[in-house]
Amino acid sequence: MTQPTRIYLDNAATSWPKRESVVNAAIEFIKSCGATAGRGAYGSAQQADRWLSDARRQVAKLIGAADARSIAFTSSGTHSLNAALHGVLEPGDHVVATEIEHNSVLRPLHQLQLNHQISVDFARCDLRGVADWSHAAELIRPNTKLIAIGHASNVTGAIQPLEPWSQLAKKAGKLLLVDASQTIGYVPVHVVELGIDLLAAAGHKGLGALAGTGFLYVSQDLQTDFKSLMTGGTGIQSESIDASITWPQSVEVGNYNLPGIVSMAVAARELCDALSLQPIPWQTHWREMYQRLLVGLASIPGIQIVGSNPTEQTTSTVDHVALISLRVQNWNAHDLAAVLDSTFGIEVRAGYHCAALVHRAIGTVAEGGTLRISPGNSTTAQEIDTLLDALRSIASAEM
Ligand SMILES: Cc1ncc(COP(=O)(O)O)c(C=O)c1O
Repeated sequence: MTQPTRIYLDNAATSWPKRESVVNAAIEFIKSCGATAGRGAYGSAQQADRWLSDARRQVAKLIGAADARSIAFTSSGTHSLNAALHGVLEPGDHVVATEIEHNSVLRPLHQLQLNHQISVDFARCDLRGVADWSHAAELIRPNTKLIAIGHASNVTGAIQPLEPWSQLAKKAGKLLLVDASQTIGYVPVHVVELGIDLLAAAGHKGLGALAGTGFLYVSQDLQTDFKSLMTGGTGIQSESIDASITWPQSVEVGNYNLPGIVSMAVAARELCDALSLQPIPWQTHWREMYQRLLVGLASIPGIQIVGSNPTEQTTSTVDHVALISLRVQNWNAHDLAAVLDSTFGIEVRAGYHCAALVHRAIGTVAEGGTLRISPGNSTTAQEIDTLLDALRSIASAEM
């Protein structure tokens, strides 16, 4: 039997395929330099330093940060979020997060709470996966240090409007942490205009950099006292075993993943260049694929898009990143994902998607989560149509 062609629709986990320019830049770095940054004084080490500084500049420009030194590189969105939380939280602090958060926010917070270091409250979200900032406002206490909001739900795709969260944090005098792991590269975000104190992101999803990449933006006023998640070699004050590790080494302790960082620099630079064009090419493509998928799904009997038809009364419409969670009548999400893969070569993900709390709100706990389909900037219209045909035949089959 011939293997069906692979159709990758799990870009919310990590984007694939990567752009050639991004892959080539990483290969070029490995072949032509390959030295470590921040340590040696020889030629190729200095070249590595320059790659690193350039990467900070490109990523800072992408998110509107005034100073390139506000960017620290990490290995993932999870690493960035853990570093952010451990960097600013102190015993006795209270945090307001939301039900839409990924486990890389929920679990570190839960762990800190179990260790009796902090307390946490979660603002509820509605059936669309939109978090309620007025509920968050009610949860704020005098000892609240931080408000954490995910820019988009990785289960329903709902993009959270950041202005109200920014206003809430500013008015209450609290720090604002934004998890942009699902939006960076797809949706513009400007840390200065939005008054964001900390922005954590993966580099390997919408931005399109290699796996094993992420970054953390920390505003200047928080950098001096920013605490380290880990300690070890930094290339600075190496004669001392108790040298205080300063920003950004407080996050970047150990050797750098320079091929990954270079790939992120190129991805960020290309995106910044594209932002000056109208219409912005990358932002139109994934939106077109998302719309095509949405319209196609609506025409298939027995398919329900999770979070699209709330019974709650809402007056506002909500924007989405390119991911859709759905149910197919008489099908369990895991079986459906297995059939799509084995019979049609279509790779999508089933389950809770590492977001423990949102399923209570959107009603998908008992059924084992959702089937999540996430096109990206490399997805073609033909791939979407093949998926729709496959779902049509599955949904219409006699059970
Ligand atoms: C909203 C959100 N935050 C954080 C993460 C963690 O990112 P990473 O997979 O790079 O650790 C993810 C990954 O799926 C995510 O969707």
